[in-house]
Amino acid sequence: MPNSMNFHSRKWVKPEDLNANQSLFGGSLLRWIDEEAAIYAIIQLGNERTVTKYMSEINFVSSARQGDIIEMGLAVVNWGRTSLTLKAVVRNVFTGEVIIKIDKIVMVSLGDDGEPKPHGYTSVTFKRDRVPHRLASRRANDAPPVATVEDDADPFADTL
Ligand SMILES: CC(C)(COP(=O)(O)OP(=O)(O)OC[C@H]1O[C@@H](n2cnc3c(N)ncnc32)[C@H](O)[C@@H]1OP(=O)(O)O)[C@@H](O)C(=O)NCCC(=O)NCCS
Repeated sequence: MPNSMNFHSRKWVKPEDLNANQSLFGGSLLRWIDEEAAIYAIIQLGNERTVTKYMSEINFVSSARQGDIIEMGLAVVNWGRTSLTLKAVVRNVFTGEVIIKIDKIVMVSLGDDGEPKPHGYTSVTFKRDRVPHRLASRRANDAPPVATVEDDADPFADTL
């Protein structure tokens, strides 16, 4: 099971993301994390019908101010039958200060009937090789070749 935490996405804290204390509004942060987790799970499970089922205790460790740049990190905690459990950390790009930690975000893969659907995967892919069935026929002929080894080193990996 991979232990590395990948920080792919960054956000610039803008006036519309602030609360009355002029610091980052928790609702904005949770929306960003939820979207980040959904995108990650969709790519890993090759299924765009993937929804957030559960989030564990959320620890707002510190805040951010307008103009700060934050980065969001995710790592796989567990591969289930229909689910993928992630953990998340958000930190300030410049200070490295942790802003929020979430130990468990459970994403569930659904079938066309809206019921949980087994995804069949047990390891992380760093390639774009898990394509939703609906899109398989649109895969470009010149798309990078799909490698056979699933667990190549991730160039973005950053071990916490
Ligand atoms: C997602 C949904 C279809 C799951 O239904 P369900 O009856 O709980 O399904 P299951 O009991 O089969 O559980 C599905 C998976 O979620 C996991 N799960 C369910 N409840 C959980 C919980 N409270 N904590 C952690 N994991 C949980 C199960 O372990 C299972 O994983 P596995 O197959 O890998 O073992 C249903 O709850 C739903 O539609 N929820 C709304 C989701 C949504 O719209 N999210 C967007 C935000 S509102």
